[in-house]
Amino acid sequence: MARVPEAVIEEIKSRSDIVEIISEYLPLKPAGKNYKALCPFHQEKTPSFMVSSEKQIFNCFSCGVGGNVFSFLMKNEHLTFMEALKMLADRAGIKLPSHPDRGGEGKTLKLFELNELAAVFFQRCLEKQEGEKALKYLRNRGLSRETIHKFRLGYALPSWDRFLKEASRKGFSPNLLEEVGLALQRRDKSGFYDRFRNRIMFPIFNVRGKIVGFGGRVLDNSSPKYMNSPETPIYHKSDNLYGLNLAKEYILRENKVIIVEGYLDALTPYQEGIGNTVASLGTALSPGHLRCLRRYTKEVIIVYDGDKAGVAATLRGLDLLVEEEFHVKVVSLPPAQDPDGFIRKYGKEAFLEKVEKAPGLFDYKLNLLLSRYDPDSAEGKARIAKEILPTIDKVQDAIEKRAYVKELATRLNLRGKITLGEEDILAELRKLRKGKPSSAPPLPLERGTALAERYLIQALLQEEELVSEAKKLLGTKDFRDQRYQRIAEAIFELESAGKPTHPGEVISYLQDEELGAAVARLAMETSPYSNGTQALTECLKRIRKEEKKRSLRECEEKIKEAQSRGEEELIRNLQFEYQALLSK
Ligand code: UTP
Ligand code: MN
Repeated sequence: MARVPEAVIEEIKSRSDIVEIISEYLPLKPAGKNYKALCPFHQEKTPSFMVSSEKQIFNCFSCGVGGNVFSFLMKNEHLTFMEALKMLADRAGIKLPSHPDRGGEGKTLKLFELNELAAVFFQRCLEKQEGEKALKYLRNRGLSRETIHKFRLGYALPSWDRFLKEASRKGFSPNLLEEVGLALQRRDKSGFYDRFRNRIMFPIFNVRGKIVGFGGRVLDNSSPKYMNSPETPIYHKSDNLYGLNLAKEYILRENKVIIVEGYLDALTPYQEGIGNTVASLGTALSPGHLRCLRRYTKEVIIVYDGDKAGVAATLRGLDLLVEEEFHVKVVSLPPAQDPDGFIRKYGKEAFLEKVEKAPGLFDYKLNLLLSRYDPDSAEGKARIAKEILPTIDKVQDAIEKRAYVKELATRLNLRGKITLGEEDILAELRKLRKGKPSSAPPLPLERGTALAERYLIQALLQEEELVSEAKKLLGTKDFRDQRYQRIAEAIFELESAGKPTHPGEVISYLQDEELGAAVARLAMETSPYSNGTQALTECLKRIRKEEKKRSLRECEEKIKEAQSRGEEELIRNLQFEYQALLSK
């Protein structure tokens, strides 16, 4: 890897504000002098992800991730350090000295670049004579030029290699095209061909608006109707919601999200001013989807197609939502209608009314089950109870849960012996509960380490002025804990080199994910001491005291050993040593 001059790295760093950059991925709320959010790296219900503008670091107090702006990008976007650096450089308009592309270096960014190239190419094709019928198709489906532009819709020409050629002209290899899902290898391995041909192209964006993949629709009734990018290093279907890049601000504003299934079902509401709409693109809702959403809202309205497949898909993902304490409502559309069709036919207001009046998940599911099974037969009752119990089980709120139990008992016609009905249901619920492990997140750095070492490092990270003083008073060997020793080393070495020792720098210097996270955490946690000097003095005292105790103990051991062997001379020397230690 060609070395990037340190001055350039410094420049990039100074122009990349961590708060600004993390804000592009998740909504940060001010909290004192920091910012907080729900942690993007684990599932949680109350925010423990903190970002410090002053220190230019982040840290999750719950799962322990942390670091500086580079660590965040590397972790969140699965980038190497160089890739993160390049990304920040681009963002800041700084040109990195070009370096030869060795193997995997810069690969992820290349894939994004390639998708971007493809999107622009498809967009241009839509404008051309050859794209006329595609454009007409889209216009016929009611999409405005503005929507087409906003979602960057395009057209892939009916050719086997037009995009391949375009990409190779720009220096992209067919292998890379294959990796990002734009090309396929011929069966006889003699070459490659374009995956998307004669299709309307829908770029699929990540939450920041970068293109991760594509969906391509035929212009007629042929099949398959949609062709999609495969899973690639940058496209993970179950972690991505179509339209979230544009919808996020509306979701925050409205504090609710409408989840639909298809591309057009997201585009049409958006065009009609219902901006808080995202599409799951025909896949069942997954924990990854929830992770995307929970940063924005807990209020979810599901609007899937009014056909059987839609209903099945709806039911699959929903218990998951309940478990994660989302409030879920379900809109049922008339048979053979989807949100796009419904809005076209009945208008925006009718759609919004459906959304407003949507029943909660429990009612929706219960009604569905009541229509599917016969609640008058014993078998029907059992089936219904069996299918809805997992939903009730996942309700976290005890009162709400109890209400559902009661309602279920009533609806199943267990009247007359109502108490028995409820008891039966509760008994079944308890059976479900059994054998579920509860998990607690690991608490990094809390494992039986000498607290004094921890607080000393913390003082050094929080008050840089202390470093030179501390360096005179102790060496890295004074730290018994390997991790603190390495952090101290980094701080002292930076200091010796005349460089700043603030947490962001220490994290870069360490180049170690776990240690970086530890630094971020220590830097952000409140110290139990009133100031750094006090922390330094007290902790040093503690460390020295421990050292002394250890030496005394060692000396004692030696004395005992010498006594057992009757080595008088040695015993005397050791006793002398012991006294010296004691009076130190
Ligand atoms: P639908 O069959 O409901 O299509 O599939 P649609 O979105 O209403 O499409 P239009 O209105 O006919 O254009 C819902 C979603 O399932 C995925 C697509 O993401 C689609 O938007 N799908 C469907 C596929 O991936 N492949 C297919 O062949 C069909
Ligand atoms: Mn449709």
